[in-house]
Amino acid sequence: MNIKDRARQQLRDTGEAVAGVLFEQAKKLPFFKDKIAAEYEKRMADLRAAAKPYRDELPSWDTLPTHGRDRQQILAEMQALRDREDSRWRDGFVSGAVYHGDPEHIEFMQQAYAIHSQANPLHSDLWPSIAKYEAEIVAMTADMLGAKHAGPNADVCGTVNSGGTESILLAMKTYRDRARAEQGNDKPNVVAPTTAHAAFDKAAQYFGIELRKIPVADDLRADVKAMKKAVDRHTICLVGSAPAFPHGLVDPIPELAAIAFARNIGFHTDACLGGFVLPWARELGYPVPDFDFRSEGVTSISADTHKYGYAAKGTSVLLYRSKALRKYQWFTLTDWPGGIYFSPTFAGSRPGGLSAACWATMQAMGRQGYLDASKAILETAAELRSGIAEIPQLQVLGDPLWVISFAAREPKTLDIYRVLDAMTQKRWNLNGLHRPSCVHIAVTLRHTKEGVVPRFLADLREAVEHVLAHPQAEGGGMAPVYGLAATLPARGAISDILGMYMDALYEV
Ligand SMILES: Cc1ncc(COP(=O)(O)O)c(C=O)c1O
Repeated sequence: MNIKDRARQQLRDTGEAVAGVLFEQAKKLPFFKDKIAAEYEKRMADLRAAAKPYRDELPSWDTLPTHGRDRQQILAEMQALRDREDSRWRDGFVSGAVYHGDPEHIEFMQQAYAIHSQANPLHSDLWPSIAKYEAEIVAMTADMLGAKHAGPNADVCGTVNSGGTESILLAMKTYRDRARAEQGNDKPNVVAPTTAHAAFDKAAQYFGIELRKIPVADDLRADVKAMKKAVDRHTICLVGSAPAFPHGLVDPIPELAAIAFARNIGFHTDACLGGFVLPWARELGYPVPDFDFRSEGVTSISADTHKYGYAAKGTSVLLYRSKALRKYQWFTLTDWPGGIYFSPTFAGSRPGGLSAACWATMQAMGRQGYLDASKAILETAAELRSGIAEIPQLQVLGDPLWVISFAAREPKTLDIYRVLDAMTQKRWNLNGLHRPSCVHIAVTLRHTKEGVVPRFLADLREAVEHVLAHPQAEGGGMAPVYGLAATLPARGAISDILGMYMDALYEV
């Protein structure tokens, strides 16, 4: 971004901030309050129906059945729902979400889970098997992410937790607590690119950390200079992604980590998405910049076993460069009437079966399995990427490997969100993104199956043609929502509606 663009952005942000405050004030005035509530209700009707598609078909339980129901009948009901929901991801219509999905693999993980379904690692004395699995999951992941090259002072270690978000929350809490304990820093801030995952905002909200979100450079990767400028004596850590969720681009991690190293503060690589692909992509000869413990300043890495590690949903690994840092993650309580208590992550009791299934998956995949899977995904993604780039009205953003984002080509002749909606009509489930307006597909093993890429490209071409042939907005879908999200007062409203949508999810 040049100075003019930055100034424009500043103005826009300030204008929007003022408009946002006005909107929040207006909501309190009776006249606006009723009008806004009526408008929200109108929009919620469709969302409520979408949240509960089975409501009119199946009995809803808002009280326990008097007597336990027949187990076979319960399972049959559940299988019927599962069958209705499976085909979209199984047939490769979904971006990300299910990363492996072959029936034999699912069956194998389920067996592993079933063997340990009663295990709770909170009781490590009862289930030392789970402690063994988790220690090995951490060690195998650390080995994959450069632990051996971390230098003589490192003793790379980590923990297993429930998912990418928890890994990030834990890391941020750890940095906050270290800074408080070692430097008396009670005004912690974290410097991250705007493309860093929403989990960093969540951590900031939960833990009272200021998140300094720095606009990315023109290539959509973190802006090293701008991030360096944002660091001050209260900065506890910098963040980079490998790759970032929106455009699948790896930030300049060694350069960012060097800033952290020079100031003796933390640097977190969010490799939730790439931790189990990039090492193999590197081995396959793809251009992979350093992102792991090979870079001196990297002090923690999150890598999701439940994404491209191909484990069942509910596990992720958070690695630290040293035990001296990890200790700030631990929770211990020695004066509780309930006994001497400790737990390594946010949860108390945890599902040992998930760690068992994760360990079993890593054992069954092996290095060769991950290498083959990554090869298939990267080759499929390259085909997809060049197919998208050949559509004259579209352009691929940046230079991604397997998470491919695309936007309307300049000068913009079509609304990319209407293309997203047209793809949804064709059963696709892609991710809508904004700032800039674009759509992405995270390529998984589901997309490597015969016929998926040609079908995607044919559908995308048709979707673009449809939008060009119907320039008037057709209503419904995500296009109007993204249109609204471009203005801050509406962002406040969208935030309210999202809250109401979450309420709706918990309505029987
Ligand atoms: C880069 C990145 N970080 C963090 C996360 C959060 O992971 P989870 O949804 O498992 O909490 C994601 C999820 O897509 C991600 O892509």
